[in-house]
Amino acid sequence: MRLDGQVALVTGAGRGIGRACALAFANAGADVVVAARTTSELEDVRGDIMAVGRRCAAVPTDLTEESQVNRLADEALAAFGGVDVLVNNAGVAIHHAVPDIPTDVWDLTMAVNVRAPFLLTRRLWDHMVERGGGCILNVASVSGKRAGAGNATYSASKYAIIGFTESLSKAGREVNIRACAVCPGPVATVMRAGNNPTEDPTGILTPNDIAELALFVATRPARVVLQEAVMELNPSWSG
Ligand SMILES: NC(=O)c1ccc[n+]([C@@H]2O[C@H](COP(=O)([O-])OP(=O)(O)OC[C@H]3O[C@@H](n4cnc5c(N)ncnc54)[C@H](OP(=O)(O)O)[C@@H]3O)[C@@H](O)[C@H]2O)c1
Repeated sequence: MRLDGQVALVTGAGRGIGRACALAFANAGADVVVAARTTSELEDVRGDIMAVGRRCAAVPTDLTEESQVNRLADEALAAFGGVDVLVNNAGVAIHHAVPDIPTDVWDLTMAVNVRAPFLLTRRLWDHMVERGGGCILNVASVSGKRAGAGNATYSASKYAIIGFTESLSKAGREVNIRACAVCPGPVATVMRAGNNPTEDPTGILTPNDIAELALFVATRPARVVLQEAVMELNPSWSG
């Protein structure tokens, strides 16, 4: 599964699933643009990517700001001449009972989890078409397949990104752009630990599990439609 000569742009690449995807893609031969807000984490991942011999541009970005999202896309194009694989991975998961959901939490969640992927896709779509095609991976969640009582905001955002991805997949078929919603179950990351502080992180999926899935999806040939990739934790597994 190789991405030699290709350019990947990964949001939320400073840690967790995004970092694992950025490193997996670099190890598969891609040059990588990494984005998030925390510059120290971005510099760290940039160092690891360059250590495997690939080029990396680290672009500090707050994805809630449209101007910064557009600048990220433009800097990726300027640095490497195009983007072949866009990974909309950055996300937030802030849970409240429905009557207590603050409006700003709803808006933030939609801005990071749904609006930013839309903005980046819109900015890069025509460039991908001119390049002959590309691949868009939107990191959704199993929470976009089934909602629980306590995660209405997060689930709504993930259902939305899965719907957006299905539309992209259909729109992309004529122009050789493949789009896939990657839907992980529980993964041992800062986000997961923040919402599940008593959970044993060694008993759930790893960021590398998801990165391997993302690399598999990104390296499928153009004839393959793979619109959704769900990776669950086996509830019977006990280490
Ligand atoms: N962990 C799980 O169990 C799980 C399961 C299913 C799906 N997912 C999805 O997987 C994706 C990655 O999650 P994770 O668990 O790896 O989370 P994480 O460890 O918290 O990492 C999230 C990344 O997103 C970035 N980010 C958040 N807000 C941002 C903003 N406003 N602008 C730019 N970057 C921002 C963070 O960087 P900064 O804070 O530095 O900006 C960080 O790099 C998310 O879409 C999440 O919903 C996770």
